[in-house]
Amino acid sequence: MKFCVLMGSPRREGNTAALLRPFLEECGGMGVETETVWLYDQAVNPCLGCMACQDCLDGPGCVQDDDFEEVFRTMAGSDVIILATPVYSFFCTAPMKALLDRAIYAGVKNYGAEKGPKLLEGKRLASVATCGYPPEKGADLWEEGLKRFCRHGGLEYMGIFCRRDWGRREPFMNEERDRAVRDFAQAIRMSIREAAL
Ligand SMILES: Cc1cc2nc3c(=O)[nH]c(=O)nc-3n(C[C@H](O)[C@H](O)[C@H](O)COP(=O)(O)O)c2cc1C
Repeated sequence: MKFCVLMGSPRREGNTAALLRPFLEECGGMGVETETVWLYDQAVNPCLGCMACQDCLDGPGCVQDDDFEEVFRTMAGSDVIILATPVYSFFCTAPMKALLDRAIYAGVKNYGAEKGPKLLEGKRLASVATCGYPPEKGADLWEEGLKRFCRHGGLEYMGIFCRRDWGRREPFMNEERDRAVRDFAQAIRMSIREAAL
């Protein structure tokens, strides 16, 4: 089983990275293979809306020559896609938004002369997120966007794990968060195992 973790935070030692560390450690402990892609290290330009991808039914078919197709292949080659991001302006960060825009068009062949496949159909998707507001006010729109992205693309939405950044008032990580994000990794793994039985 493979999880790809698409990391949307620019801060390698930031809060989102701090949540990912125990999450990835737990995955390793369960024998889940992981691949982490730091999106700020990738060149994934914004979608141009040219619709050329709709004429290619057996692959992404994007006209832009950048890192998108390689990241998309990593997504398509994984059982679970984890979107790790701080909330920026009530959604994900810009590199992740560019990736999602490209993936939702190149991955869903609904708009060409001929209707085609959904290339990420059947994949599972979950998010590990951090935000400054309480999560129900900081990450609610991000979660709603994820649910609709999954519905549109035929993916299975597995949930979000989000914790609040209290700024300088409190350290971001604590025992509860470490435990709970490990439990989240376990829950994703378990639900896939149960579905396979
Ligand atoms: C540019 C910017 C925009 C932000 N926008 C929001 C927001 O809309 N809602 C929110 O709850 N927190 C917002 N935050 C707070 C971050 O989500 C929060 O501090 C997060 O834990 C940072 O994660 P990181 O350390 O991985 O970068 C924003 C922070 C930045 C820098």
